[in-house]
Formats: sequence, C-alpha cells, structure tokens
Amino acid sequence: MKIITVADLAKLIAKHGFDKFMQDLMNYIKQDFSRWGEFDKSPRHAVHVEGGVIELMPVADKKYYTFKYVNGHPQNPFSGRQTVVATGQISDVVTGYPLMFSEMTTLTALRTSAATVIMTDLLARKNSKTIALIGTGAQSEFQILGHKLVRDIKEVRYYDTDLQAMLKFNKNMQDKGLDLVACRSAKEAVDTADIIIVCTACKGHVDVILDEWIKPGVHINGLGGDCPGKTEFELPILFRGKIVVEYILQSSIEGEIQRLSPEEIKKNVYAEYWEIISGKKTGRENDDEVTIYDSVGFALEDYSALRLVYDLANKYNLGQDLGLIPPISDPKNLISVLHKKE
Ligand SMILES: NC(=O)c1ccc[n+]([C@@H]2O[C@H](COP(=O)([O-])OP(=O)(O)OC[C@H]3O[C@@H](n4cnc5c(N)ncnc54)[C@H](O)[C@@H]3O)[C@@H](O)[C@H]2O)c1
Repeated sequence: MKIITVADLAKLIAKHGFDKFMQDLMNYIKQDFSRWGEFDKSPRHAVHVEGGVIELMPVADKKYYTFKYVNGHPQNPFSGRQTVVATGQISDVVTGYPLMFSEMTTLTALRTSAATVIMTDLLARKNSKTIALIGTGAQSEFQILGHKLVRDIKEVRYYDTDLQAMLKFNKNMQDKGLDLVACRSAKEAVDTADIIIVCTACKGHVDVILDEWIKPGVHINGLGGDCPGKTEFELPILFRGKIVVEYILQSSIEGEIQRLSPEEIKKNVYAEYWEIISGKKTGRENDDEVTIYDSVGFALEDYSALRLVYDLANKYNLGQDLGLIPPISDPKNLISVLHKKE
C-alpha cells in the first residue's frame, strides 16, 4: 500500500507539470461522471461539531473503492490552522485491499478547481475574460490557475474580508500574466465580471453576493455553501438562471439550494453535473442567461483525483510502502506479526 505525502504529491505534480496534471484531472473527472450509473453513491456522512464539520466521503464502482476524510472549520485560520484538511484512500474492490493512502488537502484544492473549471467551460460565455473572486483563501489560486486553462482570462477582480489573504493572493499570482485588481468590496469585484467565483468560509447564511449585482450572461461558481446552515448567495439569485449541482441528494442538504423547498428544487435545479458532462442536457444556450454551479464537493471528484494520483505515482515510482498491511505468507497466521523479531 503506497503512502503519498504532501511532498510526494508536490514532486508528482512537478514531474508531470501543473497544467498537464489539471488537464488530466479534468479528463478523469469527465470520464468518471459520464459513467455515473456505474457508481455506488451516497450523500457524505457528516458529523457537525462546534465550529465545524467532519465528513467521510465514500464511493465505489466495480474496480475501486475510495473515501476521503475531510473537515471544514472556518475559525481554524484564527489559530494558524487551515479551514480544510483531508486525507484519502483508494482500494481494490475485488480483494478489498487498500492500494494507496494519500494526503488530500492539496488534492482537494486541485480537484475542486478541476471540477469547477469543467463547469465553467460548459456554462460560461466563450468570450469570458474577467473573473470576480470573492474569498482569497486556500482554494483561490488553484481556482484561477485552473480557469486560465479554459478561458482567455485577462483580469481577476478579487476581494476578501482579510487584507492579509488579499496580499497573499496578489503575491502568489504576480507572475501569471493577469491584471490583478484588488477591490474594496464584493460588489466592486463583481461589477464587470463575466465569471464570479465565491469561495468564502463562514458558518452561517451570509449574503456574500447580492442578486442586484448579477448581470445577464454571468456564470457563477459557488463553492463555500457546502454544509447545512452555510451559504453565500442572497436567496433570489437561486431564481435567476440555470442551476447545476453535483448530486441532488447531497446538494439539497448542503448546497445553496438547501434554502429552497422540495418543490422549488424540482423546478429550479436544471441538471446534475453528469447530465451536463454527458451532453444529456445542454449547458449555456445564449449570451444572456445566468448560469450557476452550486458546488458542495462530491465523493466521485475525489475518486477521480485518487485514481489519477495512483496512476501517476505508479508511472513515476513515487510514494512509499510504510507497512500498514500485515506482511504474512499464511493469511490465517495473523498472530505471527506480534512475534516477529526486529
Ligand atoms: N465545493 C467544494 O468542493 C469545496 C472544496 C473545498 C473547499 N470548499 C469550501 O470553500 C470555502 C473556501 O475554502 P478555503 O479552503 O479557501 O478556506 P479559507 O478559510 O482558506 O479561505 C476562505 C476566505 O474567505 C474569506 N471570507 C470569509 N467571509 C468572507 C466574506 N463575507 N467576504 C469575503 N471574504 C470572506 C476569509 O477571510 C478567507 O480568507 C470553504 O467554505 C470551504 O468549505 C468547497
């Protein structure tokens, strides 16, 4: 069983190339979502604790079983900790044996960007050039670097309630060929944007973006409304255009759409992610409609990410076997592991 550390993942991405890794990840996600019916799926298991949430996200097909352990603690940065950290595993379904255990904090940011960028590609206007980014925390740079792969992005208008986070974002993105516009409010950021990315962390129903700011033709990616009692859109936005969610059973508990009634969900949610990817439903149909990707993060995105890292770790011979599975020749002689001499 391979162990992939943060350093291993960084090495893997350096060897493969960041853009190539993102393109491959998008392809893996598209492949996996286009065989949606083959997966054993369920909404993630969430334990709500004071100040946050701890979740397990399993999914399986006939080949692999994967799960991710992930938290969301918006107050963590105040004590120098990250809001989101994660680990994950991929196992062989036939034998049930674990194949690889991996860091997934960075991998979550990469897969969230890849999954979001796929939706931008299918839903945003082709001539989109300006992004409004609200929330310049851990996910932010990954989002922008991913978006550059599918649209000719020239300008990023960004805003965060934390000035330090804005300075950090600016520093990290200086050499990416973008016009970086620091804004004094979310309204100012959204003003001339073609694509709006909202990735704030706050446990509450916060109107981070308002309906009156949303102009015809805009595409919105909402990432931070991903837990019961945690949303970022002023409610009327959900009546403005086509809404796409990953998995309606989970999204109606956790997404922006948690604030809609079952009837409103039925009427207003246009499609699940796989329906747009497979072409079962059309993405954007004209330059004036508003499109909304209400993302919560679904286990199948992590399945694709783990599958890609497993393939690349084998290709580049990365990761170590740290002996988590008993190395015994007689499968019934488990007690022998306790008698092994150093
Ligand atoms: N949908 C998904 O798949 C997915 C995946 C990963 C993270 N997330 C969510 O995305 C959000 C961001 O994650 P992160 O890891 O970047 O967190 P983070 O804590 O590193 O960054 C969040 C940023 O939002 C800022 N912020 C909070 N309230 C704000 C407001 N009202 N206006 C502007 N800025 C505000 C904070 O100052 C912080 O810099 C979290 O809510 C997280 O749960 C979703």
